[in-house]
Amino acid sequence: MTAEELIPAPRAVRTLAAGFTLGEDTLLAAGPGTEATARWLRATLGAVTGYALPPGGGRDGRTIRLAVEDAGPLGPEGYRLTVDDAGVTLHGGGPAGVFWGAQTLRQLLGPEAFRRAPVTPGRRWTLPGVVVEDTPRFGWRGLLLDVARHFLPKDGVLRQMDVMAAHKLNVLHLHLTDDQGWRIEIERHPELTETGAWRARTKLGHRASPLWDERPHGGYYTQDDIREIVAYAAERHITVVPEIDVPGHSQAAIAAYPELGNTDVIDTTALTVWDTWGINPNVLAPTDNTLHFYEGVFEEVLELFPSLFIHVGGDECPKDQWRRSATAQARIKELGLAGEDELQAWFIAHFDRWLAARGRRLIGWDEILEGGLAPGAAVSSWRGYGGGIAAARAGHDVVMCPEQYVYLDHRQAAGEDEPVPIGFVRTLEDVYRFEPVPEQLTEDEARHVLGTQANLWSEVTEDQQRVEYQLFPRLAAFAEVAWSALPVPAARDFAGFERRMAAHYRRLDALGVAYRPPAGPRPWQRRPGILGRPLDGPPPDR
Ligand code: ACM
Repeated sequence: MTAEELIPAPRAVRTLAAGFTLGEDTLLAAGPGTEATARWLRATLGAVTGYALPPGGGRDGRTIRLAVEDAGPLGPEGYRLTVDDAGVTLHGGGPAGVFWGAQTLRQLLGPEAFRRAPVTPGRRWTLPGVVVEDTPRFGWRGLLLDVARHFLPKDGVLRQMDVMAAHKLNVLHLHLTDDQGWRIEIERHPELTETGAWRARTKLGHRASPLWDERPHGGYYTQDDIREIVAYAAERHITVVPEIDVPGHSQAAIAAYPELGNTDVIDTTALTVWDTWGINPNVLAPTDNTLHFYEGVFEEVLELFPSLFIHVGGDECPKDQWRRSATAQARIKELGLAGEDELQAWFIAHFDRWLAARGRRLIGWDEILEGGLAPGAAVSSWRGYGGGIAAARAGHDVVMCPEQYVYLDHRQAAGEDEPVPIGFVRTLEDVYRFEPVPEQLTEDEARHVLGTQANLWSEVTEDQQRVEYQLFPRLAAFAEVAWSALPVPAARDFAGFERRMAAHYRRLDALGVAYRPPAGPRPWQRRPGILGRPLDGPPPDR
């Protein structure tokens, strides 16, 4: 494998004459701060090569040395990887940099290095002579997994983190709650999972489809599962950002605790966990009881997730029930607000202050701009670039994840053979040409773009294989957009990326990733009768 085939592409590569061959006698010398990477190397390369990589070092020619190089030019996530006949030296600007360098090292060993046990006895594991110097473009290189619409059992989450790490992605945004399911155990409110984690049946395809899967669906993560997910992430220098979506997308919570809903407008005791898709009118009531209830939820969330950012959703909250609710209207009056949008802003601002008082920061979908943005809030810009531009101009931090480019539940080709053709066509090339920083921003404003995130909503991805089909190969292109210093979209070498993908598909094969094959028979054919949402024409940039 050569350094020209790395994905995501590194900043700089220099070829050296002599490489390095791993063997029984190869040692691993792990300096302070590199222990997690040493564990990872022993677990992955150790398993596939059969070499134990014991600690040690000193004698030239047989040692992989890991070290953190403080305050160097690399930056906390940058690394310098040197391979020659004297051994391997991997220096990171911080512990994370060493870990990302180890990902490069595995790619350089060849696709077979992505297997979990040796395949060919006596195989030589040779690294090419090379110096790779690399730093990421963005500090937030995210993937959203929607574990609410379809539950992804814990193993699937852990596996996706392995796959993320291989692509140098470092933020896992877990969408844990929605109308269709509540997926995290909250000890003080057990009904959230006892009732809220299960639905009786599920709509197949678009909400207008006549088809149902009549089997019950559900599941949730216990608090120990969450601790395990967070610890597994930390070993891989991934931050897990939890999302508890309020005040919309809350029917599962209201089904569990009917008093959370607008009880003066509808009979909330009749609500069940939602079994279909779309924007749901049954939103939280803006009462002290609701605020207090969710403070309790967030207290447990903060105990479990060390992430600085806590996502509170804030998207797609229809205001119709608030318009009809005497309680909501009284609150608007009492607070002197102009209307329902400001009531939502008040709701979000409450949690902005509450999180800030506990040393955390609120992030929400771009609807939180409507009615006034809470002072410390950051924004996930999903309805195009507009929300992100407005937020950055007002001095707020932004994660760019416009649905026009990086909603990976959208189909990846035109035609009839995509499994459920939700949304617009987003090809591999579309994702490769996605630019996270809009040109309207000045340099100063652009500093507020923390990075970018690909979002996989799960209405139509009912299991792990479907998740991987939607993610890949597009997540590889996204990873390069997030990590590499690519030129402006029109100047990007997509043909060159596709050539490098030939090697990358072999890595994904060895990892067992169920990607969409670039040609030939595809495992997912549309089931007759399943309705998608095939939208053609240029995507709107709202
Ligand atoms: C979203 O897609 N509703 C954030």
